[in-house]
Amino acid sequence: MNLAGNVNKVLYGGDYNPEQWPREIWAEDMRLLKLANIDIVTINVFSWAMLQPSENEYNFSVLDEIIEMVSGAGMKICLATSTATHPAWMARKYPEVLRVNSDGSKRKFGDRQNSCPNSGIYRMFSGMLARKLAERYGKLDNIAAWHVSNEYGGFCYCDNCQNAFRMWLVKKYKTIETLNKAWNASFWGHTYYDWEEIVIPGNLGGEWPINRSSCQIQSIDYRRFNSDSLLDCYLIEADILKEITPNIPVTTNLMGTFWDLDYFKWGRRMDFISWDSYPYPNCPYTRTAMNHALMRGCGGGKPFSLMEQTPSVQNWQPYNAIKRPGIMRLWSYQALAHGSDTVMFFQMRRSRGCCEKFHGAVIDHCGHENTRVFREVTALGEELIKLGNTFLDSRIDSKIAFLYDWDNWWATALSSGPTTGINYPEEIFRFYDSAAGQNFSADIIDVDAPLDNYKILYAPVLYMIKPGFADKLDKFVRNGGVLVTTFFSGMTDENDLVTMTGYPGELRRLCGLWVEETDALLPDRTNGFAVQDGPWDKIAGTWKAEMLCDIIHCEGALAVALYESDFYAGTPALCRNDYGKGRVWYFGAKLRSDFLYRFSAMICEENGIEPVLRAKEGIEAARRVKGEKEYIFILNHNTAESEISIPYACRDLITNKIFSPEECYMLPAASVLILEK
Ligand code: GLA
Ligand code: ZN
Repeated sequence: MNLAGNVNKVLYGGDYNPEQWPREIWAEDMRLLKLANIDIVTINVFSWAMLQPSENEYNFSVLDEIIEMVSGAGMKICLATSTATHPAWMARKYPEVLRVNSDGSKRKFGDRQNSCPNSGIYRMFSGMLARKLAERYGKLDNIAAWHVSNEYGGFCYCDNCQNAFRMWLVKKYKTIETLNKAWNASFWGHTYYDWEEIVIPGNLGGEWPINRSSCQIQSIDYRRFNSDSLLDCYLIEADILKEITPNIPVTTNLMGTFWDLDYFKWGRRMDFISWDSYPYPNCPYTRTAMNHALMRGCGGGKPFSLMEQTPSVQNWQPYNAIKRPGIMRLWSYQALAHGSDTVMFFQMRRSRGCCEKFHGAVIDHCGHENTRVFREVTALGEELIKLGNTFLDSRIDSKIAFLYDWDNWWATALSSGPTTGINYPEEIFRFYDSAAGQNFSADIIDVDAPLDNYKILYAPVLYMIKPGFADKLDKFVRNGGVLVTTFFSGMTDENDLVTMTGYPGELRRLCGLWVEETDALLPDRTNGFAVQDGPWDKIAGTWKAEMLCDIIHCEGALAVALYESDFYAGTPALCRNDYGKGRVWYFGAKLRSDFLYRFSAMICEENGIEPVLRAKEGIEAARRVKGEKEYIFILNHNTAESEISIPYACRDLITNKIFSPEECYMLPAASVLILEK
């Protein structure tokens, strides 16, 4: 279930906070939003204090008016539950709703996402509010979705959380002996005799600032627990909403590669994924594409919703460049290209005060429609009306998958050694970029996703192997799949205990090699290798090896390239193992993008995988498939026009231009085609 009701076009709108404004302005808002072709507003995101002025008092009169007004203007509503900021009176009366920092200091009222996820009071009041909203507004026919809270995240180290953590551990480990074993607790004398002795590993416990931990599994378990705690908060509200309004889908807005929460676990409990995309001005477009693909993957491949983006400018980035003309449009289509069925903004009208007053909005401080941003929003709105429902509810059909795993991220980031250089999302990105940057369509999946439809699976830095996953990979490769993995893989089990069969542990047989030692290179040092012409002409050349260098003994694998320097010069750096009907590639070191691009092109060719379009650098092509129809989105991310050639006959849905096969076309900077085939 994506958006409820008769959605016959890409819904277009976003956050609207009229309760922050005097009523006199509302009618003008309606005029301007209609003018801008806005047809959905996300309302009530931060109104808890207004809706519940005191413990026993609810007041929905302003929200009633807002809903009446936007409904009267023909808009759909994404109705938020307002529970991301508890009211000030609640913090005063029930201090337990306030979080405690990692250093043990108790937080005060202020900011948002400041409620303790394990506070019974917070859970009770948030559930009550969700119930009242569902009972009051659930029968309206223009509620497209429920939007629970807002951007869940953060951590809490209070006693309530500590108790809940102990209960979570009891459920997981059953006996204290099992926990001691899993946590390797005899190390540094950390043995526990009673559950009550276990503490949350904040900076007062076994962690130091910035994710350094003396007992990584305790820290990983705490992060798993915290993600589950916040998910419970979501589910308390979502379950109530679904009980009262079973036909209205429920979501909350996620944030891409966001450290705090295991979004794959979340995605399984959400009706559809929605997410907020705020790329930095110099963010590679493939990095944004990766976030879209990850969010789509968290929803099992179904269409998602771009819930927020700025129409123009950010406020919380260090340097808030305005989006250049055409970029908002380009990035909106990029979201659609990767599976979004909506284009939504934060926000409709720019705040007057507080920290978001310099955040872009459809209606700027000047208050009228004569702005560049307003004109661009309006024009895109017109296009979306014309596009109708053509590609809505279509799928992305990829032969390539990337594995993404939050436990693995937490485990590698918390690891003490071999290097602080590993940045898990960036490692995934470098490989993803090498495929997406050449327009090879790729999904991002978790360990539970079926692999049957994929030909190539990239699983770089697959440090932690969850139960059964090595077998799943074994089967995948045996049946003809290609696995690409790297250094720092197969190291531990799900409890961060090293697999004692020689690195890469459970993957050793599959990779056909043994890693005896791993050398961490200082940031300014490199090793390297040369690949000769001949069988490897697609990746021939001299290449740099960085960060980590595995010292490898082949056990059936073929050494494709050998290190060129240091005492391990002449030993394998890059290996290939033919296994069953498939093949495993093992990268002993971190290799740069220049190599990865060549490598990805080679293995795609070997496996008969074609790019969506062969095009010059900076031209992105992504495909959505609906029944017999294919929709190919072509986006020029360059600042200059670029020539493309479309190998088949097709029609551009935006301009209706017909392309004949092999026709060359100059694609203007920042422009978009949606080719129907
Ligand atoms: C997030 C939030 C919004 C707003 C924007 C600003 O995505 O969900 O409420 O604060 O950031 O970029
Ligand atoms: Zn807490």
